[in-house]
Amino acid sequence: MSPVVGHTVHTFETVDSTQAVLGHLAAEGALEGTVVVARHQTAGRGSRRRQWWDAPGESLMFSVLLRPAVPIAWAPQLSLVSGVAVVDALRACCDLDARIRWPNDVLIDGKKVCGVLPEAVSRPDGRVKYVLLGIGINVHQREFPPELSDMATSLLLATGGPPDHTRLLSVTLAALGRRYGEWLSNGFTELRLEWRKRAGMLGQRVHICDGREGVAIDVDDTGALLVDAGRGALARVVSAVAEPGERSA
Ligand code: BTN
Repeated sequence: MSPVVGHTVHTFETVDSTQAVLGHLAAEGALEGTVVVARHQTAGRGSRRRQWWDAPGESLMFSVLLRPAVPIAWAPQLSLVSGVAVVDALRACCDLDARIRWPNDVLIDGKKVCGVLPEAVSRPDGRVKYVLLGIGINVHQREFPPELSDMATSLLLATGGPPDHTRLLSVTLAALGRRYGEWLSNGFTELRLEWRKRAGMLGQRVHICDGREGVAIDVDDTGALLVDAGRGALARVVSAVAEPGERSA
């Protein structure tokens, strides 16, 4: 049975970051599936040490507490699992055919509509204590700052009439619960096929963080991206999960 994600939802008008608020709740023993959602963040966290900026009410921003009893090395797979769930939700809610850019950006027509930030705390035995899965979906933006306008889109821009936040949140939490349950039961191997069906970047040229370039050809059973780096070299790129507040590299 899938774990229930969203049995308890704490809703705020403004917080620094839903990740920070949920981190406090997690440290106090909150149950798996607890959610924090906010209309505005003053210090939203993005991946790669970036800030996640929002204008009040324009984005759906929430964090989900997960407590999988798995080695911490498996936690990055939750990035890919989340990407699959968000694509499922956008299809169900908005009839959109969104695509995933490894590991977890969700794109519509090549522009980013959703970002996912997994932050994890481990136990001394190397297993996961908890994961804070932060999700930000661009919903009502009519335009973006010039530096983002080539790269970002919103559900309003993509469909002309976005769903309301409450429905989008409940559909996304249900999809997350379902995909997370599959991952807990069966591991990443079967979800890998679902990820590949939704991927928008396989066969495309990508830059690897070590400075090399290549063609993304697949993800493996651990969620790592396999890149044909030319001359017979196959690069295996692993996604990172940061400690809360530290920001993933
Ligand atoms: C990315 O950079 O692509 C990840 C962005 C994640 C943003 C979300 S918004 C809700 C949650 N709270 C945060 O502070 N960040 C995540």
